[in-house]
Amino acid sequence: MMQREYVQDLSKLVGQEITLRGWLYGKRSSGKIQFLILRDGTGHCQCVVMKNAVDAATYAACDELSQESAFAVTGKVQATDKAPGGYELFVSSIELGAKAAEYPITPKEHGVEYLMEHRHLWLRSSRPWATMRIRDTLIVAIRNFFHERDFLCFDSPILTPNAAEGTSTLFETKYFEEGMAYLSQSGQLYGEAGAMAFGKVYVFGPTFRAERSKTKRHLNEFWMVEPEVAFMDLEGGMQLAEEFVHYIVGRVLEERQSELAILDDGSGRLVERCQRVMKPFERMHYDEAAKILYKYWDDKLASGEELPPTFKRFEYGDDFGAYDEVALTSLYDAPVIVHHYPASVKAFYMKRDPNEPDKALAMDVLFPEFGEIIGGSQREDNLDELLKRIEEHQLPKAAFEWYLDLRRYGSVPHAGFGLGLERLVMWVCDLDHIREAIPFPRTLTRIWP
Ligand code: 4AD
Ligand code: MG
Repeated sequence: MMQREYVQDLSKLVGQEITLRGWLYGKRSSGKIQFLILRDGTGHCQCVVMKNAVDAATYAACDELSQESAFAVTGKVQATDKAPGGYELFVSSIELGAKAAEYPITPKEHGVEYLMEHRHLWLRSSRPWATMRIRDTLIVAIRNFFHERDFLCFDSPILTPNAAEGTSTLFETKYFEEGMAYLSQSGQLYGEAGAMAFGKVYVFGPTFRAERSKTKRHLNEFWMVEPEVAFMDLEGGMQLAEEFVHYIVGRVLEERQSELAILDDGSGRLVERCQRVMKPFERMHYDEAAKILYKYWDDKLASGEELPPTFKRFEYGDDFGAYDEVALTSLYDAPVIVHHYPASVKAFYMKRDPNEPDKALAMDVLFPEFGEIIGGSQREDNLDELLKRIEEHQLPKAAFEWYLDLRRYGSVPHAGFGLGLERLVMWVCDLDHIREAIPFPRTLTRIWP
């Protein structure tokens, strides 16, 4: 077996002679010393090669190492405040591995399009590396949160016979002699079957939306986590969402400070941002949010401030646009939950409030200076009402017969929500574009690599 230690464990190995295996991230030399920066996937380590401390072959090996060449290095771990990370390796020998051809990504600035064309290599660079490690922490935290609360992990199918979130964004594919199949837009409807069988479940998987949108917040393939709970109402859903966000962002604060520091150049800004969502969330009815927005845009227009050409003034009854969500959340320090949206802008399965029949028992969690990261609702549990909605939305009833059965056999109040993983990663890491929040993004113009 190949003996090796990992960079992330260096603090426990001070004074020991160890071997690291990895790739050359960068190097510099000063006189009779060479500094090699090795990356091994868990971190970066400065390796110090002194001409008078190694044999000639080892010193010469340094010249052979081009950027991203593979190598193993043996030496003694020492604590130092001169190297990033606080530890370095005092080298005694080097073993060369495969030499890298001229590497297309150099320390100079490249455009994002160029980097995206080389995404398979770009993932080795420090910002994508830090982003993916934060994503990993969020995924593990998501599973742990639900596991600790006795939710069953309930996988929903990706090939489905019916739409869940409107028919305009379906990817379709021919399915043998059975007709058309659609890539799942949401696992929710299956999650509801799960909630009736297991009480509380969560679906966590890839979802697909054939949106022809080029915004910075839309992917055509993304990951969504969707809890669904029997005997839970809208209020319960809002509480669960708040606890959930506190838990998973809390894990990032505990485990990923050094990755956050890579992303904000050590300013501490990202930690501060994360701390904002650890506070109690604001909650407001759609009508209240609408009033605030009217005033906000009145003031903006009166001030003569120029608004972008894509800006469309919010009108009562509309869903919020991206500008409205950013505006609304800029007024608060913590996330804002807006509830009771007009039923007309929301999905067919949402229950209406009996006291306000034009409003859905819906909620969106809007993050500071960003907007929607979670969308959820209490579900329509009455068979006749649900049938009406299916008709109003011109959905094919036959495809929903199995879903309607959930209302025929012991229907109970239930609720749930969906959190878009990449939206959250984008917010935590303060990325310019959601495409950087997933290893290999699928957007309107990109299916490579
Ligand atoms: O608001 P959405 O469409 O809600 C649902 O799909 C429900 N079935 C969820 C549920 O109640 N179980 O999507 C939920 C979340 C959004 O808040 C957003 O974070 C993310 O999924 N999302 C997207 N993320 C990236 N790209 C897209 N095109 C997204 N569409 C939605
Ligand atoms: Mg939504």
